[in-house]
Amino acid sequence: MLVIVKENYGEVSKEAAAEIASLVREKPDCVLGFATGGTPLGAYKELIRLHREEGLDFSKVTTFNLDEYVGLPPSHPKSYHYYMLENLFNHINVDPRNMFIPMGMAENVHGFCAWYEEKIEKVGGIDLQILGIGANGHIAFNEPGSSLGSRTRIKTLSEKTIRDNRRFFTKEEEVPRYAITMGVGTIMEARQLLLVASGATKADAIRATVEGPITAWYPATIVQMHRFATIVIDKDAASGLRGSYAGF
Ligand code: PGA
Repeated sequence: MLVIVKENYGEVSKEAAAEIASLVREKPDCVLGFATGGTPLGAYKELIRLHREEGLDFSKVTTFNLDEYVGLPPSHPKSYHYYMLENLFNHINVDPRNMFIPMGMAENVHGFCAWYEEKIEKVGGIDLQILGIGANGHIAFNEPGSSLGSRTRIKTLSEKTIRDNRRFFTKEEEVPRYAITMGVGTIMEARQLLLVASGATKADAIRATVEGPITAWYPATIVQMHRFATIVIDKDAASGLRGSYAGF
């Protein structure tokens, strides 16, 4: 696991985007795994800039997203479909036929999850998976206690996640209780992992992830077992670490 500590969020975003861009240049038909949340937004902005100003070409890229809320249609402004279009896909040239995001409105959720896993396998697996991390150590919607070998499935959101999400919705009934998420095992099969984190609120989760024992209580800790995992964090997110890490 390579830990790269950057000065600030802007530097983290640039580094993450540079890693993604270098893979897209080297392997134009690569398979990218994307994440949502606040942290990757800076990297996505930088990818858009690289596309516009330097012609970074996504036309042959295939993408898979980590997760989606159950019950939200793609048009809902809080859905991850909407987020991805708004923050990345509408601004680069990924072919919509090659974009895959879990379907929160799937009638047969279990059938959909099996199909998603098969689809990832059929395209040859994910080359590079981008990950955020929750303050509780979750990756995607694999909340504390998730099996470290889990596959794409429906998960009940933790009470804390539900409470945190309440502010985004006008009505209580609208707040999602479930999500479809790639499993920890699915994520670990990506050939390369790129986990990004910023800010002091992530310091405990980063310390557990980099230096703690591997445990389902902090699903992100399994990343220690991945052969090609890079963690790009800013100084605040790194503030709980005891070891010394690269600053480049
Ligand atoms: P954040 O979310 O980037 O908005 O902090 C990360 C996550 O919960 O995975």
